[in-house]
Amino acid sequence: MEQAQQYVGSRVNPDDLKLFCMRAMEQAGLSRRHAEQTAEVLVTTDTWGTFTHGTRQLVPLLNNVKKGALNAGVEPEIVSEGPGWTLIDGHYAMPMVSSQLAMRSAIDKARSSGIAYSGVRHSSHYGAAGYYALMAVEHNMIGLSFSNVDVCMTVPGARAPVMGTNPLAYAVPAGEERPVFMDIATSVVAISKVIAAKTAGKPIPDNWLVDEEGRPTTDTSAYPARGAIQPMAGHKGYGIALLIEILSGVLTGASFLSGIGRWLEEEPKPADEGHAFIAMSVESFMEADQFKARMDSMIREIKNAPKAKGVDRIYLPGEMEWERSEEAHRSGIELPDFVLTNLFKVAEENDLLENLISILKKE
Ligand SMILES: NC(=O)c1ccc[n+]([C@@H]2O[C@H](COP(=O)([O-])OP(=O)(O)OC[C@H]3O[C@@H](n4cnc5c(N)ncnc54)[C@H](O)[C@@H]3O)[C@@H](O)[C@H]2O)c1
Repeated sequence: MEQAQQYVGSRVNPDDLKLFCMRAMEQAGLSRRHAEQTAEVLVTTDTWGTFTHGTRQLVPLLNNVKKGALNAGVEPEIVSEGPGWTLIDGHYAMPMVSSQLAMRSAIDKARSSGIAYSGVRHSSHYGAAGYYALMAVEHNMIGLSFSNVDVCMTVPGARAPVMGTNPLAYAVPAGEERPVFMDIATSVVAISKVIAAKTAGKPIPDNWLVDEEGRPTTDTSAYPARGAIQPMAGHKGYGIALLIEILSGVLTGASFLSGIGRWLEEEPKPADEGHAFIAMSVESFMEADQFKARMDSMIREIKNAPKAKGVDRIYLPGEMEWERSEEAHRSGIELPDFVLTNLFKVAEENDLLENLISILKKE
């Protein structure tokens, strides 16, 4: 979209972007609360610089509402629970809403039980796994977040996609240091990176894709029509993705593997992804201050490790995201062109062009 390109390099205040997203979602029939909870996840993800999973996802999410695969007017429901666990039927409400309800429930229960699990079924694409893991940190808890995803990843020995790129995230509070925060897919890279190499006509390393015979390939030309992405670290990534499939899909009653609908395609079939969340209260194990001091000590030992030649800094997981987020709140988020393109699409479809242009600040 040509107009979007004119705004490449401009910056947007995260609160303004959130209001824009909320207005678009309210126009699509979402309640203010659901729109706000969804916008909060998407905009926070943009502030980390994880642009593949931020506000760019408004286009497919609203498309899912339009085609009936997501239901704007329902509330997720707790269908069963115990002292240390909760099972939620998302009823195809916005996945960000069901996921926040699930993590809040795990946090509430972990206060008395020490550790709690929440599962969600009948859901769809919940975005960046890390948002929900981080919710636990401000309550002096360790948070974990997992989701299964429609199949696109091979497993060792298979010639076709068998599993999704099942994401996982964990977040752990620290004291003077920033919380440790890891948020990844279990594929070797995100599919968007393969597509970017294909668009640029560049070969890829031979551990990213397999061809239609299941052999590693550096050629992206047939992808995504044929071939599949590889799991990270071979059988190890496969094994972790499988655990996520079990915790998110098999255990919750959601669909799993090939049963999961394709949320990005036009078919109206709901995705029926499942999610899993775990909260662990550090205060059940030791005083929070003692735990945080121990975290700080561990983090500093890693940061102070001898550096590889030519390297002046070792990062902890999450550190890059914290720094980008601080910069985004200080000076605004600089959205890349593919995000701007999607936001202009949303603005055009919802008569919000003037609003979008007014919040994009050129240098
Ligand atoms: N909902 C879904 O269907 C779905 C599926 C797959 C992925 N995702 C999301 O996609 C996003 C991107 O996933 P990805 O696998 O491309 O992430 P990635 O490979 O970019 O890794 C990001 C993580 O690695 C850490 N990291 C990066 N470099 C580091 C370094 N040098 N030292 C220490 N830590 C470092 C970052 O802090 C971050 O936690 C995630 O938010 C994930 O949740 C969502």
